[in-house]
Formats: sequence, C-alpha cells, structure tokens
Amino acid sequence: MILVTGATGLVGSHILFKLLAEGQQVRALFRAGSDLERVKRVFGYYAPEPEKLFDKIEWYEADILDPADLGGALKNIKRVYHCAALISFDPKDKNRLYLTNVIGTQNVVNFCIHYGVEKICYVSSIAALGDGTHQQVMDEETEWDENTQSAYAVTKYGAEKEIWRGAQEGVQVVIVNPGIIIGPGFWHSGSGALFKMVAKKPKWYPPGGSGVVTINDVTTSMIGLMNSDITGERFILVNQNMTYKEIFSAIAREYNMSAPKKALKKWHLRLLLPLDWLHARLYNKARKITSDNIKGLSNIKTYNGQKIEKHLPFSYELMAQAIYFGCNKYKAEYPDKFL
Ligand SMILES: NC(=O)c1ccc[n+]([C@@H]2O[C@H](COP(=O)([O-])OP(=O)(O)OC[C@H]3O[C@@H](n4cnc5c(N)ncnc54)[C@H](OP(=O)(O)O)[C@@H]3O)[C@@H](O)[C@H]2O)c1
Repeated sequence: MILVTGATGLVGSHILFKLLAEGQQVRALFRAGSDLERVKRVFGYYAPEPEKLFDKIEWYEADILDPADLGGALKNIKRVYHCAALISFDPKDKNRLYLTNVIGTQNVVNFCIHYGVEKICYVSSIAALGDGTHQQVMDEETEWDENTQSAYAVTKYGAEKEIWRGAQEGVQVVIVNPGIIIGPGFWHSGSGALFKMVAKKPKWYPPGGSGVVTINDVTTSMIGLMNSDITGERFILVNQNMTYKEIFSAIAREYNMSAPKKALKKWHLRLLLPLDWLHARLYNKARKITSDNIKGLSNIKTYNGQKIEKHLPFSYELMAQAIYFGCNKYKAEYPDKFL
C-alpha cells in the first residue's frame, strides 16, 4: 500500500491519478475541509470515467500536525509520497510554514521509521537550493546560505533535513526539487494561479525568471525514482529556465490575447508593497507582494535539471504542451472570461 500526503493538492492529485491508473493500492491523506471534488475534476482531465479510479482511493483524514491521527495513516504502508506542504510568502504565515513544512515532515518521517516504511519520496523545491542571485547556474550541489532565503525556502530546506534524518534511521529516501510547476486545476493558488493571472490581461509582467517544469514530468520522475534502486539523492526538476515575460507570453498566446508588454521594476514592486499590505488588511486577503517574493519575482535564477535524465530512462516533455493543456482546461472551466 502506498500513502500520498497532500493528495488534494496539485502534485498530490496528479500522483494519485498516475498510481491508480497503474493499478496500485493507494491511501490518500485529506483534512476536514479539503476539496475532494477538485481531485475528481483533475482525474476527469485525463480519464473519461474519473469516478472509476476515484472510487478506488482509500481516503484517510489526518492533519500531518496531529500525530494522534497521522499514525494510523502510516500503518501497513510501504511507500510514501510526501507532497503535503504550505506554500506562502506572506509574513503572517511564517509560523504556519515552519509547523507544516518542518514539523509536519518530522511527524511523517517519525511514523515512517516507526512503521518500517521502505521508501519515501519528498517533494521539496528549488527554493531549498542555495541562492543563485549572481546568475550562476544552480544544481544539486549549490551551497545553501540560510541568511538570504525566504521563510518558505528555509522551511523546505528544514524539511529536507528531516528526510535525511529518516535516511540515517534506515528509510530509503529520494528528494525532488521542482521548479515552478505548470499544471491544471489549481487556479487560485500557487503556480496554478498563473493561468488565472494572465487571463486577466495584465499590462505588466514581473522582471525575474526561474526554472519551470510540467506536472507530468514531476509525477513521472517521482514514480520513476520510487521504482528504482536510487536512494539518498536529490534531483532538481527543471526542464527549462524561463523569464516571467516568457511564461506570461506563452500563456497569453494560447488564450489568443496580447501578452503584457511592460516590465515591472523592482522599485515598482517596492512601491506596491504597502498598498498590497493595506489591501490584504482591509479585505482579509493573502498578501501578494512581500519582501520575500519581491526577490523571487525580480531576480533571474537559472537551474540545471539534467541529473534526473542521467539517472532514469526519462526525458523532459515540451513545456509548450503543458501550457496548451492548462490553458484549454482553464478556458473550458471559465468560458465567460474569454467572451
Ligand atoms: N506548485 C509549485 O509550483 C511547486 C514548485 C516547487 C515545489 N512545490 C512543492 O510541491 C509540494 C506540493 O505542492 P502543490 O503545488 O501540490 O501544493 P498545493 O496544491 O497547495 O497542495 C498542498 C497540499 O498539502 C496539504 N496540506 C497542507 N497542510 C497540511 C496539513 N497540515 N496536513 C495535511 N495536509 C496538508 C493540502 O491539503 P488541503 O487540500 O486540505 O489544503 C494540499 O493537499 C509542496 O511541497 C511544494 O512545496 C510546488
């Protein structure tokens, strides 16, 4: 039996689909309030009868921060795909980031050790690599410098340390460090919001750039690594380094819209910072612009994601295909935005 944490998120729901399509027995973690219908909708992107696979899931309600509930989820489990996490650059989430990403992973690892789980695949992030602000190409060996990192990055790095502790205690481990993941279905948060953002026809684009990868490449490599003898390794998953201008333009092209033409400057973002703060306070919304993500949106970071291709029979798919697919799903779900 396989356990997927974060099964109601972008990565988790796609992993779930692939494992079930392979005929694997899967237990999936959810919380009170998780949107299970969204998981079914994701299955519907890839299968004509999504219920058939969806009904095979053994759902298990547990918060990774609640050891009393989580323990039972790990019983009789051989492999764990640990995808549950909090992604946020809002300063008010600092404590929640630490709890969810570091302590949550610590709890998962502790139960893996306790129940003799054979192997765990942890979804980390390129954020957990060192800082590449000087434009050097970052790889799995890039040196980590805690002082220059966002709270999110620090907690993803901290979670990796928990995974390495698990390795020392005898669990086989693999870590993947994906770039920005391009995939459909999660339009209102994280990387999925890029599709929604561009549909609003913005005039501006952020000046920076980063590594990107498709959701299909993320799940294929995770499953490939779990089925291999590879253990004790981390792998950057980035098939292309793109500027935000390129990402926005590629999505706008699929929407038949004109792409934003003006680059935001770092000082524009700094000026917007207090306005965004005020907007978040007045309307009780999440912050969109924070000092942590100004850096991410302004700098161009470059990653080398080739290691995975050397270790697995795997080559990255075309990014354009995933953008086309995501845009079509967004258009089908929100046709009124394209009238
Ligand atoms: N998306 C990207 O571009 C990207 C890039 C690099 C790395 N990553 C990493 O990939 C992983 C998955 O990201 P994602 O994009 O799939 O995120 P997501 O769509 O926000 O999903 C997060 C998942 O974690 C679950 N979760 C959060 N807190 C939990 C808790 N305390 N207990 C149990 N479950 C909890 C959520 O459950 P609910 O549905 O109940 O909220 C959801 O299923 C994360 O580790 C993230 O750091 C993502």
